[in-house]
Amino acid sequence: MQAQIDQYTTEINTFLPANADELETFRIKFLGTKGIIKDLFEQFKTVGPEEKRTFGKVLNQFKQLAEAKYEELKEGLNSEIEHSKSEIDLTLPGDGFNIGSRHPLSLVRIEIIDIFKRLGFVVAEGPEIEDDWHNFSALNFPEEHPARDMQDTFFIKKNHGKDDIALRTHTSSVQVRMMEQGKPPFRAIMPGRVYRNEAISARAHCFFHQVEGLYVDENVSFSDLKQTLYHFVQELYGEGTKVRFRPSYFPFTEPSAEMDISCTICGGSGCNMCKYSGWVEILGCGMVDPNVLENCGIDSKKFTGFAFGMGIERITNLKYVIRDLRLFSENDVRFLKQFQTETI
Ligand code: PHE
Repeated sequence: MQAQIDQYTTEINTFLPANADELETFRIKFLGTKGIIKDLFEQFKTVGPEEKRTFGKVLNQFKQLAEAKYEELKEGLNSEIEHSKSEIDLTLPGDGFNIGSRHPLSLVRIEIIDIFKRLGFVVAEGPEIEDDWHNFSALNFPEEHPARDMQDTFFIKKNHGKDDIALRTHTSSVQVRMMEQGKPPFRAIMPGRVYRNEAISARAHCFFHQVEGLYVDENVSFSDLKQTLYHFVQELYGEGTKVRFRPSYFPFTEPSAEMDISCTICGGSGCNMCKYSGWVEILGCGMVDPNVLENCGIDSKKFTGFAFGMGIERITNLKYVIRDLRLFSENDVRFLKQFQTETI
C-alpha cells in the first residue's frame, strides 16, 4: 500500500494538464466518488490497529496533496483563460489584405501580346546574354557599324569579332534564333528586356523592354506589315488613332520605316508629349532583309517577311501619361499601386 501511494504521489507531482478536460480527468481519478483516495480509505478500514496510526497520517497527507495540487492547477488554468481573454478582442475587425498589383509594363506587355495572339502570333523568348552573331552579325550589321560600339553595348566578353558576348541591345536577336531553329512560316512576337549603355535620365535608361514581331511566309508584303500594325494601334489606343510611316534605316530590314501615331494625349493638336508635332514615334519596322533570311538558312527567293520592334516603356508612357522612365524601375509603391486592377 505504501509503495502504491508513493507511485501515485510521483504521478500527482509531475502532472501537468494541457487543458481543463485533462484536469477534470485527474480530479475524477484521484478525488472522485469512485476515485483512488476513496478506495484507499476503504482499504484503510481493514488494516490492523497498530498500523492505523502511521498509515492514517500517510493517507491524510496524500489526500491533502491531491486536493492542493488540484486547486493549484485549477487556479492556474483559470488565470490563463482570463489572461488570454484580455489579450484577444474578438470583436475587432480582421487585418486587411495588402494585395499586390501588376507592374504597368507588365499590363501593357500582356495587352500587346493579347492583340497579336488574336491575329495568330505565337509568343517566343530568347536569352538576355547574347553572342555577336545573334545580336549583330546575322542581322546584317556591318563589321564596323556604330551600334556595335562600346558606347551602346554592354559587352561581357570583347574579342573584336564574332566571339563577343554582350547584353542584347534589342529583341531582334530572338528573330534570328527563331528562324534558325524552325521552318517558315513564322508568325511570332517576342517580348523581353534589352540593355544599352546610356546615361539614366527621364528619357533614357540603361535597360528597357521591347516587343519584337516577325512574320515570314510566301508572299508577305509591305501592305501586310502596314495593315497588321494599323490594326494593332486601333486595338491598343482606340479606333480613329492615325498612323504614318516614315522611311528609316535598320541593317536587318529593307525597306525600313518608323511608325508614328497621332498623339494619344492631345489627339494630334499638339502638346508637350508630342513636342507640339501631333505625332509620336512608337516603333521601327520593315521587310526582313534577304541577307538575314539567308543567314538563318531560309530561301529568300521563296520567302519574304516583315519585322517590327517597339519599346514597351514608350507605349506605356503614352497610355498612362508617364513622363519619367525612371519611375518604372524605382519600385515606389505610390506609383505602382495606381495600376491596381483588382480589389478585395
Ligand atoms: N531592333 C530595332 C531597335 O531596337 C527595332 C526594329 C525591329 C526595327 C524590327 C525593324 C525591325 O530599334
